[in-house]
Amino acid sequence: MTARGLAWIAVAWIVAAPAAVSAYPGGTPDFVTDVAPFCAACHSSLSAEALEGAGPRAEKELAANKHLAAILQGQKPYDKLAESDRAALAQQLQTVDANSQIEVGDFPPQVKAGESFNVTLTVTGGAGPVVGVGLVDRAHRWYARPASSAGWAVVGPPTIIGPDGKPQSGWLDGRPARMGRKVTYVNVSGVSSDPLAGKYAKSKVIYTLQAPDRPGDYPLVGVYFYGTEKATKLGSSEHPVYGKQPLGGYGGKSGRVKFTSPVVISVK
Ligand code: HEC
Repeated sequence: MTARGLAWIAVAWIVAAPAAVSAYPGGTPDFVTDVAPFCAACHSSLSAEALEGAGPRAEKELAANKHLAAILQGQKPYDKLAESDRAALAQQLQTVDANSQIEVGDFPPQVKAGESFNVTLTVTGGAGPVVGVGLVDRAHRWYARPASSAGWAVVGPPTIIGPDGKPQSGWLDGRPARMGRKVTYVNVSGVSSDPLAGKYAKSKVIYTLQAPDRPGDYPLVGVYFYGTEKATKLGSSEHPVYGKQPLGGYGGKSGRVKFTSPVVISVK
């Protein structure tokens, strides 16, 4: 290839890179489908149980070790900040984590085979502008599968109630109607949180599920994907085109994966 050809590839890459920057921080606007949490490899965990059986890796994936330690030690790119700012940032991110929770509410402990029922997942916090919410079969970052693999069928598109209290369908509409929108994972938009002001978004996702045909005990777990740095001034910057970006960058460790405690529903 000529030098000019190589130069063009370099230019194309530089032009394309910011588009990628708007993909994970910014949620998953293109992947309008089920996801499994293994995809969020960059994200950090809040509990070592989320990687049970992974040996020392489970501890390494904890936010305190994977993300906050890099900030406190002033590793790149956090070396841009003064030591006192790094300490303040770590503190604020911990506050965001403490206030970013996912809970399963309103589910029947027992249902009839083939019966339809609602399950509500409530999420708080998250840096925004979006957060990701899904239903899986186990609370494990590497081994979880979408809840549908456990036999739960999603009936109709999930109902997303954004932080403004209104239903939203913007993300789901990105999936062609002919493919159906009965997915186990959604993006919620309109999210913002501010640990200094003590303000945290709260949203709800209501899934209608149909129970499996065969009696038995079936698992159900909620999973939460959110960012932390964009909830802070110290941990974010404004990109002229793509808006707020996390200081740790696209490949940073400032994303999180959290699970609800596992729920077991008895199908009779
Ligand atoms: C290349 C690293 C990387 C991968 C891989 C990744 N993410 Fe993230 N993600 C991030 C970062 C960094 C943030 C946090 C932004 C912040 O701190 O504010 C984030 C944040 C998010 C958010 C919240 C949006 C936001 O702007 O804060 C969602 C939802 C999300 N990720 C879902 C996923 C899903 C689903 C996958 C797998 C398909 C995935 N991510 C894979 C890096 C990644």
